[in-house]
Amino acid sequence: MTGEGGEGEIDNETTEVVDVVPFATIVGNGRIGDALAKAGNCIVLGRNDKIDPNGDGPIYLATRNDALEVIIDECPTNRQKDLVFLQNGYLNSLLETKNLTTNTQVLLYLSVASKGITPTDGVTTYNPEGLTTACGEWATNFQQRLAALDLKCNVVSSIEYRPSMYEKLIWISTYMLVGAANDCRSVGEASKNHSQQIENIVNELVLGVSVKEGITFADGTMNRLQSYTDVVADFPCGVKEFEWRNQYFYDLGDDTVPIHNTLLKECSKKGLLSFDLP
Ligand SMILES: *[C@@H]1O[C@H](CO)[C@@H](O)[C@H](O)[C@H]1NC(C)=O
Ligand SMILES: *[C@@H]1O[C@H](CO)[C@@H](O)[C@H](O)[C@H]1NC(C)=O
Ligand SMILES: *[C@@H]1O[C@H](CO)[C@@H](O)[C@H](O)[C@H]1NC(C)=O
Repeated sequence: MTGEGGEGEIDNETTEVVDVVPFATIVGNGRIGDALAKAGNCIVLGRNDKIDPNGDGPIYLATRNDALEVIIDECPTNRQKDLVFLQNGYLNSLLETKNLTTNTQVLLYLSVASKGITPTDGVTTYNPEGLTTACGEWATNFQQRLAALDLKCNVVSSIEYRPSMYEKLIWISTYMLVGAANDCRSVGEASKNHSQQIENIVNELVLGVSVKEGITFADGTMNRLQSYTDVVADFPCGVKEFEWRNQYFYDLGDDTVPIHNTLLKECSKKGLLSFDLP
């Protein structure tokens, strides 16, 4: 992650705010797509619209994960390199299948309560530089678009991106699960009432990922995630999109992540999940 405890390779110079943001195509006109479009100089497509084979610039995919496969398959081959993935969750399997692992990716640490509302940025007391992180060809382009909206974005290398990606996956998977398991209305309530359980799961997942992927997390994971939770405290809880989120950890196995897996199974038994565990 890009925090103070990081490797010191983050370029923390102030982002240049350009007069006109560079042109972009935005796919998806939900909360995130709509917010990005407000920076101007873009075309917004629905998820079923055709991507222009003669166009250029980044194609920001602000859709649900479930729409991605069709969008990639329908995208003109010469434009596939311009697809930028903004989704929550574990995209690596999909990106590997589609040979798009070097595409630009973004960890979007912001919340838009409803369409048209000003986004809440992932700028926290622990990470005043913001938590949103991007890597790849179009990362700087994306940073400029966010800067025009007064939102922050850290541009990092693909190596630095990896632990950050897993850290965000840990955030959404843990807080949603603990919140759902304990009938909390929001991630803020989950973090206030069940901080020990959250910390136990976060530690377990960090260790499991570190071993499995051979990566090192910067110190301060819990501080970063807790501070972010404080910023988006009203975010509702719910274990969703299992195959994109908790399944990555679930598949690490009961021996590696016992607390996470036991809690998931308990939730399943109590009928708190809208899907069956594999
Ligand atoms: C980055 O931030 C640190 C601490 O705030 C500062 O000392 C350093 O000069 C900054 N580096 C750049 C490139 O702005
Ligand atoms: C995968 O992508 C790389 C670069 O993006 C390209 O050079 C290579 O030919 C692609 N491989 C396949 C099997 O499509
Ligand atoms: C969380 O704690 C507060 C204060 O102790 C309590 O009022 C609330 O009911 C708790 N929420 C849950 C979901 O247990």
